[in-house]
Amino acid sequence: MDKLLIEGGVALHGEVTISGAKNSALPILASSLLSDETMEIANVPHLHDVTTTIELLGRMGLSIVVDEKMNVEINSSGISSFFAPYELVKTMRSSILVLGPLLARYGVAEVSLPGGCAIGARPVNLHLQGLKAMGAEIKVEGGYIKAKAKRLRGAEINLDVVTVTGTENLLMAATLADGQTKIHNAAREPEVVDLANCLIKMGAIIEGAGTDTITIEGVSDLKGTSYQILPDRIETGTFLAAIAMTRGKAKLKKTNPDILDAILSKFKEAGCRIATGSDWVELDMSNGDLNAVNIRTAPYPGFPTDMQAQFTALNCVSNGTSFVTESVFENRFMHILELQRMGAILKLEGNTVIIEGKNRLTGAPLMATDLRASASLVLAALAADGTTEVERIYHIDRGYETIEEKLSKLGARIRRMPGRIKS
Ligand code: EPU
Repeated sequence: MDKLLIEGGVALHGEVTISGAKNSALPILASSLLSDETMEIANVPHLHDVTTTIELLGRMGLSIVVDEKMNVEINSSGISSFFAPYELVKTMRSSILVLGPLLARYGVAEVSLPGGCAIGARPVNLHLQGLKAMGAEIKVEGGYIKAKAKRLRGAEINLDVVTVTGTENLLMAATLADGQTKIHNAAREPEVVDLANCLIKMGAIIEGAGTDTITIEGVSDLKGTSYQILPDRIETGTFLAAIAMTRGKAKLKKTNPDILDAILSKFKEAGCRIATGSDWVELDMSNGDLNAVNIRTAPYPGFPTDMQAQFTALNCVSNGTSFVTESVFENRFMHILELQRMGAILKLEGNTVIIEGKNRLTGAPLMATDLRASASLVLAALAADGTTEVERIYHIDRGYETIEEKLSKLGARIRRMPGRIKS
């Protein structure tokens, strides 16, 4: 298994380009199941989770062509299987996103139930309840969700908890249902809006995406389209944290500051100077001291849980005591023990991390756990004295495109060490 070797203490400078959003690419790739015409999807990030989604769709019989710039051309007219096996779903929970489209278009789906997860229980009960409200017959047998429906029918769906992929699954299913669907307490994340915009280009009738009530008028079929994935706000936020924590100054291009409000306001509160243009953000921390900031995660437009670990790391090297409360997932704290190994002073009380700011961390051998926890370890390593070795970086490769190349471009001393190949 590959490792990252990071020599800390270099202030990051320069410019780097942000990739397309992972959490938009996954549902938008799944939406290709809703039409038998070709979809052309651009700005798809080159990530492990995208490869897994393409493999899943390929195994179902879809034809998929990916060029060297990660433009993906995908056509589902040759579909021959409606099955998502455990072996893929266990590596990527968002495989559940094929359930809604398969049921809506083909009336049948068999999708492995995602198992446990490193950050919380993450059940999919609300996906299933919503599909049942639309008339699907669903049973769980042998670890699989077995679903069938003649034609889904529009329904009033009230989600008890705001769920991103739940909203996306039901949104996709409703586009081909008979009649009107209203999703109440819908997720408002920019990635949900991106999916809705793509579906609208395919001919779907959707209103209210980006608000907490989405209304969908079902249509009989959808057409192919070309669509460009929106920039990744979490990759943007992670790189901003790297620049801030190393006391650097750098510009991130091909991003979208309009969807970064909650994140940018915390960087400003921490004392960073932020400049933005229509598609770029620059952070300058070259002559200042970072102040620790309190964080409480919440669904969009609140502060994203996917940036919690990164701000926990930032607070470790900032002045003052801070409180970081995780309110979306129960157990998203795998980074704490690893950060402690670098000399950080932090402890967990309930769902709040209490951090005593300390100006210097020291490099240490570390283990990546889940995606964003791993990103926080890379950030801490960039800011630490000495060398850090981060193992199990396949977690990072799920969500960050060539992280070591992009950070090197900003001057970081980071390299990937290939793991031993088993004979
Ligand atoms: N929940 C339920 N029942 C459900 C669905 C969700 O109780 O049927 C609960 C979850 O257990 C959790 C909360 O609702 O406590 C929110 O979970 P949500 O369903 O919104 O999460 P998700 O859709 O599985 C997506 C992102 C995550 C991101 C969360 C929250 C994708 C592919 N994944 O997950 O991204 O953390 O929304 O914003 O869009 C990441 O990129 O690192 C990542 C984990």
